[in-house]
Amino acid sequence: MRIFVTGGAGFIGALAVWRLLDLGHDVCVVDNLSVGHQAAVDRAAHLAGKSVEFYPCDVRQTGQMIEIMQSFHPEAVMHFAGLKSVAESVSSPERYYENNVQGSLSLIQAMQQCQVHRLVFSSSATVYGASGTPPFSEQAELGPVNPYGRSKWMVELMMRDVCAAHTDFTGVILRYFNPVGAHPSGQIGEWVQGSPNNLVPYVMGVLQGRFDRVRVFGSDYPTPDGSGVRDYIHVLDLIEGHVAALGLPAGLSVFNLGTGRGYSVHEVIQTMQSVSGRTIPFDVVDRRPGDVAISIADPGCAERLLCWKAQRDLTEMCRDVWNFAKCSPRGYE
Ligand code: WQD
Repeated sequence: MRIFVTGGAGFIGALAVWRLLDLGHDVCVVDNLSVGHQAAVDRAAHLAGKSVEFYPCDVRQTGQMIEIMQSFHPEAVMHFAGLKSVAESVSSPERYYENNVQGSLSLIQAMQQCQVHRLVFSSSATVYGASGTPPFSEQAELGPVNPYGRSKWMVELMMRDVCAAHTDFTGVILRYFNPVGAHPSGQIGEWVQGSPNNLVPYVMGVLQGRFDRVRVFGSDYPTPDGSGVRDYIHVLDLIEGHVAALGLPAGLSVFNLGTGRGYSVHEVIQTMQSVSGRTIPFDVVDRRPGDVAISIADPGCAERLLCWKAQRDLTEMCRDVWNFAKCSPRGYE
């Protein structure tokens, strides 16, 4: 297929580009490079031994998006472009609604203009509220508690209405739990300029000597060791879920992409210590505002309807992160 990838210079987007090329698809990437790295796209193409079209373009530029789509003639769109920091969304909500909601609307408008009828959207487990009881199924009550999660929820609502209005449109909502890991070559992984918000890239930075100690946010959650529990999923398993989504029929589909297994912060630190053979210093500090205690997927729907199941465990996730840390010590510089 001819697949248009937004945000293809980002951590997850670049690995999607690699896998799609590897499977023989033709790929066109747009990315405004505000967070992503063109080198990640180049490495993805090199690893796949294929060429890829790349345009440094923002999805909010509807006219440019139409021009690119009219020349590439995509059969499907994978939409990764967007901002993803919970903390940043609280301090700058307007940036999140402009980038994530307006950007997605612009993309859908360009698709309609170019008769492209298949959209796979990168949503997030943060659309589930703090009130629900994990493991979350797709039928769990939605109620995001921060602007990032609300921006994802708004795009989901847009897609629901577009599918209702246009019966030939295929909309697939993939709710990511906690994507971590890297390409086994060590060439593509999660590289954050500055101080990462997320746990695993921060731990990787401590192992690389870029940061001194890990802060463990909270010790009094109702979990076995008091720290937060999350459903970490290897990014390559996540990508396989996107590949499976390409074959879905018209209409709206929603899937949780997680493993169904939760790990605490301390378990992640211990696993990173064992794969690296290094001690990772940490301090236990207060809870981070906005965090929930436990977030775990019920992945049964994706297993049944997508014939998809995560294959990799936490050790393999951490092993690939450590390999990326060693092979790409300065990321994409
Ligand atoms: C994981 C656990 C923290 C950092 C967010 C978004 C989600 C997705 C991934 C986009 C929690 C603890 C963290 C640290 C810590 N984003 N932690 N010290 O918040 O579950 O999910 O990022 O797709 O949509 O909501 O991920 O990695 O920030 O936190 O103790 O330095 O690690 O409290 O329990 P989170 P995270």
